[in-house]
Amino acid sequence: MTAKDVPFTEVIPVEALASRARELGDQLAEEYRGREPVFVGILHGSLPFLSDLIRQVRIPLDVDFLALSRFGEGGKVRIAMDTETSLEGRHVVVVEDIVDTGLTLSYLRRLLETRDVASLATVTLLDKAPRRIVDVPLEYRGFEVGDEFLLGYGLDWEGKYRNLRSIWAVLDLAALQASPGALAEKVFGARGDSLIA
Ligand code: IMP
Repeated sequence: MTAKDVPFTEVIPVEALASRARELGDQLAEEYRGREPVFVGILHGSLPFLSDLIRQVRIPLDVDFLALSRFGEGGKVRIAMDTETSLEGRHVVVVEDIVDTGLTLSYLRRLLETRDVASLATVTLLDKAPRRIVDVPLEYRGFEVGDEFLLGYGLDWEGKYRNLRSIWAVLDLAALQASPGALAEKVFGARGDSLIA
């Protein structure tokens, strides 16, 4: 199988990601002025978005990270790495890459609510709203997307492709699974810069 056999299309270009981060940054700065929030990035997927977003939130804030690992069935998750900062009494803004079924976020919110936070809100870059199975509060979102499998700008497939500068949809995941290397060739090209220059 060759790269041509893996249908793959850009769905959110670099400019749209940057301008949405600016809009959300302004909105969050307005909302949290005087409250010195702590932005908690959920590893690893939120990294590019968190990095772009916080630089657009022009008020004093703290940044911390939390990593989750999945186990068992039904989307159960546990904390693999906790925040360094105590969240007690803080205005916490959870930063996610994507909310899909909502199970991860719902678990995370329940967990953070036990920590006596002053307030809790979530900003997600992407909202796969049509796939939601649990009703979970979602205060800020960058884009609503459909149910295609997305890659890039933090989103991965088996740990790969997080470093694409924009967001791409893989229209046939089975084709990617059958030929994991083909897409790298198409995306990065021989010199490593064909689609991401
Ligand atoms: P949820 O618990 O179903 O809401 O899943 C959230 C997690 O699923 C995200 O943090 C991602 O790790 C993963 N995920 C969901 N959709 C995609 C996608 O289209 N591409 C890559 N990862 C995804």
